[in-house]
Amino acid sequence: MEQNLRQLSQRVERELESLKSSAELEALRVRILGKKGELTAMLKALGGLPPQERPRMGALINDERQRLTARMDEAQARLQAAERLAAIQSETIDVTEPRPLPRMGSEHPITLVMNELIDCFSGMGFEVMEGPEVELDHYNFELMNLPKNHPARDAQDTFYMDDNIVLRTHTSPMQARAMLTRKPPIRIICPGRVYRADEVDATHSPVFHQMEGLVVDEHVRMSDLRGTLEAFAKKLYGPTVEIRFRPSFFPFTEPSAEVDLTCTACHGKGCGVCKGTGWVEVLGCGMVNPKVLDMCGIDSARYSGFAFGIGLERIAMKRYGIRDMRLLFEGDARLLGQLR
Ligand code: PHE
Repeated sequence: MEQNLRQLSQRVERELESLKSSAELEALRVRILGKKGELTAMLKALGGLPPQERPRMGALINDERQRLTARMDEAQARLQAAERLAAIQSETIDVTEPRPLPRMGSEHPITLVMNELIDCFSGMGFEVMEGPEVELDHYNFELMNLPKNHPARDAQDTFYMDDNIVLRTHTSPMQARAMLTRKPPIRIICPGRVYRADEVDATHSPVFHQMEGLVVDEHVRMSDLRGTLEAFAKKLYGPTVEIRFRPSFFPFTEPSAEVDLTCTACHGKGCGVCKGTGWVEVLGCGMVNPKVLDMCGIDSARYSGFAFGIGLERIAMKRYGIRDMRLLFEGDARLLGQLR
């Protein structure tokens, strides 16, 4: 038995050397010193020895038990310290490590275009003036020379809040608001949202954006309008862009025109964007109808003016090569983040 004890002791020493974790140590402790452990089994086997050998052998086993317990406690301290160190190292947060940047918000293409136009027109002496989207019929239609039975007032096109209040169908009511509150010379632009009861498709939306322009002064002529719009076009698209006036009709301007710009996608050669014409329509304009001047308290015998209304979606789609207007209203950050 003494020899068995020595062998057991040597085996345990070897195992203690090769332990890799405190879990392995615990398993070893149970296997040797536990209730059903090897050393415990030896103590139980003492009864089988001749009585005179029992005390010495018992003492030997107990000494060995104490020694092994101490050796295992040592090993435990060593292993646990190593494990704690490893945990600390693996859990350390390196506060100096560069992180991927969070996704940043970006300005909406309509905002970008709006700011660009504001920049361009303020450079020419225009002042920004804003007004309500929920507008009186009086400003939206009446003062714009759209009498009660005019087809453009058809309920199909206009969102009526009640008989007298509409969601503005264009930024032109700002012309009336400006003329009624200011004295010539007037030189303003009015960017903002407008509403029409249109079905949503690639080129229509019930809400879209316009920028109104109005100049009222003595001796304002159509050539001033043309010069202003040409300067705007070249500022926005570079010196090679051309503008073209096509005769048109608006009740609040006379004469009226629609203005096309050289298609920037094909430089006027004709492509899908301009439907083969080489031109893209971007705004309506004209000389302020003298009736409108008079209705808004400006003496049409002395003053004249011009006005224009630019469609911002058209410009943004042209600028960013967007074929479907819906993309401008869906707010998909993956698309919007690409456009600067
Ligand atoms: N208000 C017109 C529209 O919405 C555009 C326009 C503005 C035309 C000013 C002429 C003068 O279509």
